[in-house]
Amino acid sequence: MNKIFGANISYRVCNYLKEFLNNISSVEIANQKVFEVFGIHAFFDSSDDFKIFMESIYSLNIDLVEEPDRAEYGDFQTNKDLADKVVKYLLLKNVSPEIIIEPTCGKGSFIIASLSNFKTVKKIFGIEIYKPYVWETKFSILDFFLSNPDILRPEITILHNSIFDINFKNISKQYQTEELLIIGNPPWVTNSELGSLNSTNLPKKSNFKNQKGLDAMTGKGNFDIAEYITLTLFEAFQSHNGHLALLVKNSVIKNIVFEQKRKQYKISEIEKCCIDSKKEFNVSVEASLLSCQLNSIPSVECTALDFYSLEKKISFGWLNSKFVSNIAQYSKTKNIDGVCPFEWRQGIKHDCSNVMELERKNGYFTNKLLDEITLEEDLIYGFLKSSDLKNTVIKNTRKYTIVTQTKVGQETSYIQHLYPETYTYLKKNISFFQARKSSIYKGKPPFSIFGIGDYSFKPYKVAISGLYKTYHFTLVLPQNDKPVMLDDTCYFIGFDKIEYAIYSIILLNNGRTEDFLKSITFYDAKRVFTKDILMRLDLLNLAVEISQEAVKEQIGFLNDKYNLEINFSKWGDFIDEMKPEKEKQLTLFG
Ligand SMILES: C[S@@+](CC[C@H](N)C(=O)[O-])C[C@H]1O[C@@H](n2cnc3c(N)ncnc32)[C@H](O)[C@@H]1O
Repeated sequence: MNKIFGANISYRVCNYLKEFLNNISSVEIANQKVFEVFGIHAFFDSSDDFKIFMESIYSLNIDLVEEPDRAEYGDFQTNKDLADKVVKYLLLKNVSPEIIIEPTCGKGSFIIASLSNFKTVKKIFGIEIYKPYVWETKFSILDFFLSNPDILRPEITILHNSIFDINFKNISKQYQTEELLIIGNPPWVTNSELGSLNSTNLPKKSNFKNQKGLDAMTGKGNFDIAEYITLTLFEAFQSHNGHLALLVKNSVIKNIVFEQKRKQYKISEIEKCCIDSKKEFNVSVEASLLSCQLNSIPSVECTALDFYSLEKKISFGWLNSKFVSNIAQYSKTKNIDGVCPFEWRQGIKHDCSNVMELERKNGYFTNKLLDEITLEEDLIYGFLKSSDLKNTVIKNTRKYTIVTQTKVGQETSYIQHLYPETYTYLKKNISFFQARKSSIYKGKPPFSIFGIGDYSFKPYKVAISGLYKTYHFTLVLPQNDKPVMLDDTCYFIGFDKIEYAIYSIILLNNGRTEDFLKSITFYDAKRVFTKDILMRLDLLNLAVEISQEAVKEQIGFLNDKYNLEINFSKWGDFIDEMKPEKEKQLTLFG
């Protein structure tokens, strides 16, 4: 293989073009000849390209251009075998397109797979931002036609453009009646990854989910570029007869089905065909083929299958007003889907672990920079991270943190007067705080933290890690008479009475809760548990449903194992506490 313009070109194509374009000096004539024989429009973008190409091909210049860093382009090229399998799967579903659009065609695997399998294609559009890939796609098409001389040659346009500059609605208007296939594998990159790479490879309207304020700043406004591209394609082509088949991250498919309730795109037969991304792309990201029918009655559910065996796994999506990850399992536990009587909170966010995560040594603290520090005790609290929440009851913490505020935005100048050692330490390390990128810290007092309020100081907490995929809750007890804090990867509910915390943990670690949570959470999500998910747990209904004997048995077990002295006597008060305000008043006056 040689390279021209940074693109692989086979000897066959090289030799063919040498002869085919021999003695041609005009780019227009060259382009006309290529179009007549191969159907490819504007093969050479400019006369400069043509000139360089001809010089390279005659001197067989081996292009030694180094591959640039392409992280911002979410570049994971589909191997030929997978592209071929995807197309064969579509053939099985009787997909027979006349127009094909590959929105970010890369080196062209899906275009070649389409050319070799579909017999009805009249026109192909490919779009790609990276010029060497545009060339590689064109060379591969020539190579394909040269080795398959009898195969159908549709009109082909490979555009060297950013997809964000393409007006798909124009293409949509031109081809309203033809059977359409949108096929490909859009970039695997999120807007926040692009932000940290200072990349502009973004749609112009990048907060396209219209999230406001904190949600937009803290990640709920984070989205995959592939999701934006898929939705743009739905906007333009939902009313065309045809099909869409794109390889995307599982999170993108989940978001699309979630949004379907609101957007009502005319798509149906939505499928998530799970692929092995480690094998296909050598990455550990859960991804699938998203397949759906266009121009149909909007569906709000999706069937998950194994792409290789086509074995059906589960269905997920909307069941009336509820979004669930496993429709069959959800039906069995749906009566505990409601509103949690206690508010789930996220732990402390400081984005400054080097300075704020401490360990206690003999009489002093150490931080992640291994500094030895003396600090006043008052602002120091035991601190737990997701990885610490393994046991059912935690009485001691490995780490500590400095709680600089009791509520968000509180002035921190008091630290200097009341806790001079703590202040000296924080001041010495102020550059770490100032380097925090998130805009939530802008304009806030120095050493500010988030996820702090009265609730943080409740002595008894029931917590779960948002990151780990374990459906297990942990009781966090105070340490040296001080409440223990959790970090922002954890969620918790807080109590003043230990009994309420124990009753809650018994309910939360019950098999029914686990079954319910499994039917509404997505195992492959980055954060399996979120506040929205946990707030759906109707602990009151569960408490009414569960046998009191089972609760008593669990209390006995926890007492024995963790040396506690809890009894069942406050169960009635606990149930009352969970009742909605109105009901409580009725019992009071009834
Ligand atoms: C995941 S790769 C897949 C390529 C090809 N579809 C395939 O299946 O092999 C994504 C491709 O999108 C291209 N890309 C990234 N940003 C783009 C943009 N704004 N416009 C067009 N193409 C883009 C990348 O260069 C890369 O080739």
